[in-house]
Amino acid sequence: MTNIAVFASGTGSNAVNIVKSFNGGSRIRVALCLTDKEDAPVVQKMKDMCIETQYFPRSVWRENPDVILETLRSHDISLIALAGFLCFVDDRIVTAYEGRILNIHPSLLPAYGGKGMHGKKVHQAVIEAGEPKSGATVHVVTDTIDMGPIVMQKEVPVLPGDTAESLEARVHEAEYELYPNAIAKVVKSIGKNAEVSGEEAQDAVNAEPPAVPRSVDDAWAEALGVSNNVPPVPQSAPQPAPQYSQQYSQQPQPGGYQQFGYQPWPPTGSPAPAGARQSALQTAEPMPPTWLVWSIVITILCCFIPGLVAIIYSSKVSSKYFAGDIEGAKRSSRNAEIWIIISFVLGVVSNTLYIPLSIAGLF
Ligand code: GAR
Repeated sequence: MTNIAVFASGTGSNAVNIVKSFNGGSRIRVALCLTDKEDAPVVQKMKDMCIETQYFPRSVWRENPDVILETLRSHDISLIALAGFLCFVDDRIVTAYEGRILNIHPSLLPAYGGKGMHGKKVHQAVIEAGEPKSGATVHVVTDTIDMGPIVMQKEVPVLPGDTAESLEARVHEAEYELYPNAIAKVVKSIGKNAEVSGEEAQDAVNAEPPAVPRSVDDAWAEALGVSNNVPPVPQSAPQPAPQYSQQYSQQPQPGGYQQFGYQPWPPTGSPAPAGARQSALQTAEPMPPTWLVWSIVITILCCFIPGLVAIIYSSKVSSKYFAGDIEGAKRSSRNAEIWIIISFVLGVVSNTLYIPLSIAGLF
């Protein structure tokens, strides 16, 4: 299991998406969220998802990054994902996690990046410049703002009449797809706890992206061309409410930070809350698309065609009967019965055999 930390200062929709993409699986999990904004919406969202969240004031981020590093090490963090984190990341942290800090930026870097460019300001600048397209970029954090090696990018169009808000919403959707893939790619490349050099980080960036593992239902949804939006974790999920209030009431810790509630996800020893995304996300294999094609072909051959023949014979029964051809009506009736039985038997046999044969790889 590779532990990752998310740094966030704002709404936290990317942080939530990263947690939903990985936690509950067996390879990667968000073990920690750090923030420089005590009352940022992301704090409550992480708490709702039972992710340990710690607040450090900017003075600590700037003057005492060793406290941050110690916290990261004590949680065995291998990779850091900045998700709307608006505080400066000290060089000592960048050096300690060289090649293992990622950032997401809401434009096609290197365009519209750099100091002061974040969130809506970026989208406003893109619209004002009349750009036909924008997008999102995940890059490795280095000592130069928004200039580290690019891990992945995803384009979106800028549409006529777009406002900063509408473009932001479109870019956000791209980010939700992009960031988990980029994290999976870098984690796979660097390996757990690997101390990587800048060169190795660049290799990781150049490597082929592994697809984020999908659940069976995601794979089905993709094959059928429908959406598989899992509802967010319900607020009514069993949560250690007393623990939270207890921990919230804690005095700030030495070093000037305050620790928020923590409980592993799903809470140890208790079942995952109903409706919550389950661990299949990372372990299930995608369904091969050929299965769907074969199952449609077999259903047509074995069930639909014999069924159609049976219907044709059935319709002949009454027409022959009323034409006075009693023998013919009997024959058609018998044929209809036979084809109904054939359709039933073929349907059952083909579907029963098809599943093990497909699993054995014969289809
Ligand atoms: C994201 O769009 C991210 O790309 C951007 O802040 C937003 C955070 O949204 N980051 C930057 O602009 C960094 N320069 P979120 O809090 O909903 O994830």
